[in-house]
Amino acid sequence: MNRNWTRREAISATAALAALPGSALAGDKPSMRTSSIPSSGEPLPVIGLGTYSVFDVESTAAEIATRREIVELLTDSGGSLLDTSPMYNRSEKVIGDVIAPGTDRKKLFLATKVWTDGQAAGARQMRRSAELMQTEVIDLMQVHNLRDTALHMETIREWQDEGRIRYNGLTHYTAGAHAALLREMQQFKPEFIQINYSLGEREAEDRVLPMARDLGIAVLINRPFQAGRLFGAVSGKAIPSWAAPFAESWGQFFLKFIISHPAVSCVIPATSKTHHMIDNLGAGTGELPDNATRKRMAEFFADL
Ligand SMILES: NC(=O)c1ccc[n+]([C@@H]2O[C@H](COP(=O)([O-])OP(=O)(O)OC[C@H]3O[C@@H](n4cnc5c(N)ncnc54)[C@H](OP(=O)(O)O)[C@@H]3O)[C@@H](O)[C@H]2O)c1
Repeated sequence: MNRNWTRREAISATAALAALPGSALAGDKPSMRTSSIPSSGEPLPVIGLGTYSVFDVESTAAEIATRREIVELLTDSGGSLLDTSPMYNRSEKVIGDVIAPGTDRKKLFLATKVWTDGQAAGARQMRRSAELMQTEVIDLMQVHNLRDTALHMETIREWQDEGRIRYNGLTHYTAGAHAALLREMQQFKPEFIQINYSLGEREAEDRVLPMARDLGIAVLINRPFQAGRLFGAVSGKAIPSWAAPFAESWGQFFLKFIISHPAVSCVIPATSKTHHMIDNLGAGTGELPDNATRKRMAEFFADL
């Protein structure tokens, strides 16, 4: 069993992973597309998994087995990123329970958040997150919803120096917070941001995504389906024939619109269902829409 990164391994992982071609991460299967984390050059598979609400369950054998299957589908397809938060109640513990019995920890990129006020409380919460997820090293620690950013970034950077955290980041999930996020991106120069972006919420295109590119910040996208609402908008409608070369489902249509934006590093749709995970993973391979097609997708969606 090789479940935990040691600190030494975490510090050297960036260089080792950067040396791998994207395809090597996925074995013989069609390899999942990867982006490159600007601060390190480490490849990051473009499809991840959100855990808000869908991993907030009792750790019964049946609930854990389903989520383990979902996580194994992700890693078997070359994906790695799980996104969680102490705000998501039992999700961090469920991640720990899912990965405890033998999952190869190095196949996972564990992203969580700090969501409290004050430096001491933040450090306590980060320690607790590591305990709950049963990991010595957290791959990405994000300040959740820009809550007490300055203090938490200080702690996160100290932990990075000690090899307990690999990357730092800031998150939000509403367009109303984009102005504050832009300010903090300039002030704190995080390695990652996580923000809402989808066919239903395109405001990040205006300034957040261009600034992330300019500053060399990796971008995780949350709410890719607007918490499921996008499926309601296309209910009963067939996927247009011009989308057939790149999307076999509405889920793939929505996800490929997102990952074809050049500033996007990884999208984190949440699901509690194995067949939805398989569907979402389908967006990680094959053709992507070009600029003209992205425009057409946006127009199509606006006309619904
Ligand atoms: N402030 C923050 O940092 C912040 C805020 C919001 C979200 N997030 C992160 O982003 C993640 C994603 O956002 P979200 O959870 O709000 O919503 P989302 O990913 O936009 O949508 C999730 C919903 O879509 C459904 N779904 C997933 N795949 C599907 C498919 N292929 N076909 C049909 N339905 C599908 C899921 O239901 P099933 O379970 O039935 O599949 C679930 O109800 C969160 O889980 C969290 O990790 C972070």
